[in-house]
Order: sequence, then structure tokens, then C-alpha cells
Amino acid sequence: MDLATFEQLQSPAGQLLLAEIAERAGVESDLALGTRLRKTYAPALVAAAVTQNHLRGKAVPKFGADAARMYFTHDALEQSTRMPVATHRAARLASTGASGVIDLGCGIGGDLVALARAGLRVRGVELDPVRAAIASANLRALDLDGEIVCADARSVEIQADEVAFIDPARRDGRGRTFSTADLQPPWDWVRQLLAGRAVAKLMPGLAHDAVPHGVEAEWVSDGGNLVEACLWGAPFATATRRATVLPSGAGLESTGEPVAVADVGAYLYEPDDAVIRAGLVSELATTIGGWLPDAHIAYVSSDGAHTTPLARGFRIIDELPFREKPLKAALQVRRVGTLTVKKRGVDIVPEELIRRLKLKGPNTATVIMTRVLGVGRAYLVERL
Ligand SMILES: C[S@@+](CC[C@H](N)C(=O)[O-])C[C@H]1O[C@@H](n2cnc3c(N)ncnc32)[C@H](O)[C@@H]1O
Repeated sequence: MDLATFEQLQSPAGQLLLAEIAERAGVESDLALGTRLRKTYAPALVAAAVTQNHLRGKAVPKFGADAARMYFTHDALEQSTRMPVATHRAARLASTGASGVIDLGCGIGGDLVALARAGLRVRGVELDPVRAAIASANLRALDLDGEIVCADARSVEIQADEVAFIDPARRDGRGRTFSTADLQPPWDWVRQLLAGRAVAKLMPGLAHDAVPHGVEAEWVSDGGNLVEACLWGAPFATATRRATVLPSGAGLESTGEPVAVADVGAYLYEPDDAVIRAGLVSELATTIGGWLPDAHIAYVSSDGAHTTPLARGFRIIDELPFREKPLKAALQVRRVGTLTVKKRGVDIVPEELIRRLKLKGPNTATVIMTRVLGVGRAYLVERL
């Protein structure tokens, strides 16, 4: 979609067209609807409106009911921050007493919307003219104030009372990048900003040693999906590393305190990916009064049952043989026909093992296969 088409989409005629498509899509076929509408409207405008309607549907998981009033492009929607995560960040930023934020590369304004809703004064800067126009329209559509500038973020002056927020573009022609070398605006520039009042959203695969000294790295998951590492510039840092699990908002921060390594107790816990990526498995163990069954594997054990959003807990029903043949026999005795295998730190491919076991029976079971104090062990478990 070019800028002229987006402007037409926002004209009264464009709005009528969008409303009609929203009402009729699903009732009439795309083909019939398009053919009929092209008799009244320019074909490029009809195509843009049909695409927009489709993107609004696709945006619902990220933006909820707001999606129906917002505008997107395919790529900018993919790059945008999902609202629960943007809202969490915005609330934390607002709680620091910040008054204004400049979003340096605001895309279609996913973060900008959350920042404005948190009561912050917002300015967005975006290199791409269509995205800049969309960010501006999205603020208006949601009755939010803010100013959008179409420019290179590196050329814009940051006001003394503004916090810089940067969510650098992470994709290149080859797909999602895991390297800070491919970021736009460039990582060196982002790093420099992080020495001051700045916050940056980075890929969750960010290496710990890439985090600049004095900056806090917060790994965030939402609905079980690890989505980002958010870097909090030195003035905002309250920990070295942190894990935040949404939607609950449960969190953990690094203490560096060691935790015991010992044999498995009555329960096993599989930490959330945010906890694992943040390197906070020991901290999780301490929180639940537990320990690590192996110093190098991301399982926690305890003798008490805990329900926490930070981990999935399992009660150990029994220990089973680790070797395949006796394991099969033990499962046959229990008449297990449907098996789930969870594994960590052992050289097993669960689907292949399950296929080889050729189990038959009315019962379902979950088995955790892992290393405990360096030795392969298998446990029959049930979810807490
Ligand atoms: C990952 S997206 C931002 C998404 C946004 N946080 C959201 O939730 O919708 C990064 C954006 O930065 C923009 N960008 C990249 N380099 C830029 C630069 N030097 N100046 C301004 N914008 C830039 C890209 O065009 C892209 O829209």
C-alpha cells in the first residue's frame, strides 16, 4: 500500500468502503464482494480495503478489540509488539515517573499506543512514510494524543524530559535475525542510548554477554511464548537480569545466590522459557524452596507442591527405568497407549522413542526423561 492509497482509505469514501467490507466479508465471497465494489470504487482502493480488513482480523491476537479500528501493513503487523507486552513495559516506564517518551522507529505504533494509554506524552519517529502515517492514524483512531515524525531516528533531537524507546527492526531479506549486527537502527547506536534514559526491545535470543554493563535485561513471555528481551537503560535498571511472565506479571530477578544440587524429590518443575533464558532457574528453585536435580539442566525439584506462573509443576507418581526395553515393559504393565515424553539434557527424540515403543492400551501417561546428578532417569508424572 502506498501513501496515496492509505490517504484515500482514510477519506470518508474509504471509511464507508472499509465499513461495508467489514460487514459483508464472510457473507459474500471475496471475489463477489470485490467485483461488486470495483463498480463503485477504484480497484486499488478496493484491494487496499480488502487487505486492511483481512489484516485487522489477523491483528486481533495482538491488539484485541482495538484491531478493528487500527491500520496495518502485513510486515509492520508482524513486527509490532503484542499489546499485553507493550502495556507491561509502558506501565513499568510510567511507574518510574517518566513523563514523555520518544519511540525511535515506531512502526505502526504498537508500543506507542500502550505508552500513550499509560499516560505518557508520546512522539514517534519512523523512517517509512506509510508506517509513519499509519502510526498517526492509529493514535487518532484510538483517541490518543501524540506526534509522529517521518525521519531517520538518528537525526532527531531527544528532549531532556523524554525517555528514548527503541524497538529496532529485526528482519532482513533472509527472515528473522538473531544477531544484533542486523538491527536497524544499528545496535551500536542503541547501545549508546542505553547508557542513559532509554529502553530497547531486543530479540529473546540475545546473548547475556551482549547486554551492556549496568543495563537490566528483562526476558518477557506471554501466554507461554518467549517474546522479547527488554533492555532497561542504566537509570531504570533495578536488577541485572529479570524474567517476567505474562499475563500474570509474575517475575523473578537475579540474585546470583547458589542453590543446592540434589536427587529428585516429590515434584519436578519445568521453568517458563523467560526464566530459563534469563538464567534464573536457581532463583526459581530458591523461591519455591527447591533445588536443582542437575546443575546444567533447567529442571527444579522440591518436596512441596507449588503452583506458580513461573513454571509448570509435575507430581512424580513413580520412577521408571530409563533404558528403552524395561521402560516399555513398565508402561505396558500400566496399560499405557498414549504417551507424552518430555526430555531435557538427554539424547532422546521423543517422537521417535514413542514410535519405537509401539504402546497399546487405554491409559495416557507423561514421562519426564532427564539427567539427575549426571545420570539418565525417567519419571512417570502428572501435571499439578
Ligand atoms: C520492529 S519495528 C517497530 C514496531 C513497533 N514497536 C510496534 O510495536 O509497532 C521497527 C521500525 O523501525 C523502523 N526503522 C528502522 N530504522 C529506522 C531509522 N533509522 N529511523 C527511524 N525508523 C527506523 C522500521 O521502519 C520499523 O518500522
